[in-house]
Amino acid sequence: MRPMDLHSIYPGVMDLKWRAEKRLPRFVWDFLDSGTGTEATKARNRAALDALGFAPSILHGPLDFDLSRDFLGHSFPLPFGFAPLGMSGMVWPGAERILAQTAARAGLPYSLSTVASQSPEDMAPHLGDHAWFQLYPPKKEEIRRDMLDRARDAGFGTLVLTVDVPVASRRERQTRSGLTHPPALTPRLLAQVAVRPAWALGMARTGMPRMRSLDKYTAGREHLPPTEHIGYLLRTSPDMEYVKWLRDNWNGPFLIKGVMRAQDAAPLDSIGVDALWVSNHAGRQFDGARASIEALPEIRSETRLPLIFDSGIESGLDILRALGMGADFVMLGRAPHFALAALGSPGPDHLIDILRKDLQANMGQMGIASLAEVPVPTVLPPI
Ligand SMILES: Cc1cc2nc3c(=O)[nH]c(=O)nc-3n(C[C@H](O)[C@H](O)[C@H](O)COP(=O)(O)O)c2cc1C
Repeated sequence: MRPMDLHSIYPGVMDLKWRAEKRLPRFVWDFLDSGTGTEATKARNRAALDALGFAPSILHGPLDFDLSRDFLGHSFPLPFGFAPLGMSGMVWPGAERILAQTAARAGLPYSLSTVASQSPEDMAPHLGDHAWFQLYPPKKEEIRRDMLDRARDAGFGTLVLTVDVPVASRRERQTRSGLTHPPALTPRLLAQVAVRPAWALGMARTGMPRMRSLDKYTAGREHLPPTEHIGYLLRTSPDMEYVKWLRDNWNGPFLIKGVMRAQDAAPLDSIGVDALWVSNHAGRQFDGARASIEALPEIRSETRLPLIFDSGIESGLDILRALGMGADFVMLGRAPHFALAALGSPGPDHLIDILRKDLQANMGQMGIASLAEVPVPTVLPPI
C-alpha cells in the first residue's frame, strides 16, 4: 500500500489502536494496553493531556516547518523516539528489529528493554546511531558489569536506568487475561490465538518469545510463580549508591527513567546524570500517581537537566503539549506497537508520518514554524 493510501485509511494513532486490538489475541492486547489497579492513572494521563490547550494564532502567512530538535548533543529530525517495551516481540513478531530499523532510518532514538525478547547481541546489526539500552538493575555486580559490557559492545551508546519499578506492580487486567511468564499457551489462550491468524502466523515463524538478554544468567531458575518473571529474580531495588555506581561505570549519556517529583532532580543532577525521563510508566506501576504531564512543569522549574517525557502520547498535538510544558524530547511506548500490530513492518513508518503531519497541522494553527516557539499550554476548564 502506498503511504497516501495508509493516511486515508489510518489517519490517526486511534485508527492504528483500533486495528491492533482487532488483530491481537486478547491476552496480548491486555498486556500492551493495561495499566495497574483500576487503571485510573492511565486514564488520567490521557485526560490531563486533553485538558491542555493552546490559543490559535492567525495571519502568519505560509510557514516553513522545522521539526528538528537538539538533544543530548545530537540534532534529531523529529522530537521523539521509541521507548523500551519488555517482551515487545510478543506484541508483534520481530518487533524489536523492525522498530530499531525504522528508528535508524528515521534518525531517531530506539530503546531496548532489559526484558525485551531480543538480546543486545541480536539487535547489534539493526541499530542506528541512537540506540539506548534500558536497564532493570541487576542485583549482582558481575551481572551488572556484564550487561553494561554487552550493551556497549552491541552498539548502545546511551544507558537508561528505570527506577519506577522498586517492586513488581500488580497489573490485574494482565493477570486476569491469563498471561504468564513465559507465555504458556493454555487452551484458553489458544482459543484467543485461533481467531487472530496474522499474529498466529507471525509467531509460528519466530517462535514464542522469551527474555533473551537474561538467558545466560537464568539457567535452571525458570520455575517461578506464573505471574512473576525471571527478570524479577535478577533485579534489585536501586538506591542512590547504585545510581552512582552506574554513573562511574558507564562512559556515555546516562538517563534516569521514572522521575515524577521535583525534589528528586537535584540529587540526580549532583551525581552526573545527563537527563531525567519524566514518566509514570504509562500508568502501569502506581495507580495513585498523578499524570506524568502534571508532574512535568514542577520538575522543569526545579532543574536545568534535559527532560524526556512519556506516558500517553498519541498525536503530534500531544508532543507539542509535552514540549510546551517543559520537555526537551518525547518518547512513545504503546503507539509504535499499535502501529506494528495494525500494519506489520510498515506500521512504525506510518506512525512517524502521522506524528509529523499532526505536528505541522497543529503548529500551523498556532502560527509557529519551529519547536522552539511552542508556547506554554493552559489548563482548560472542564466542559
Ligand atoms: C507493554 C509495556 C511494557 C513496558 N516495558 C517496559 C520496560 O521493560 N522497561 C521500561 O523502562 N519501561 C517499560 N514500559 C514503559 C514504557 O517504556 C513507557 O514509559 C510507556 O509505555 C510510555 O507511555 P505510552 O505507552 O503511553 O507511550 C512498558 C510499557 C508497556 C506498555
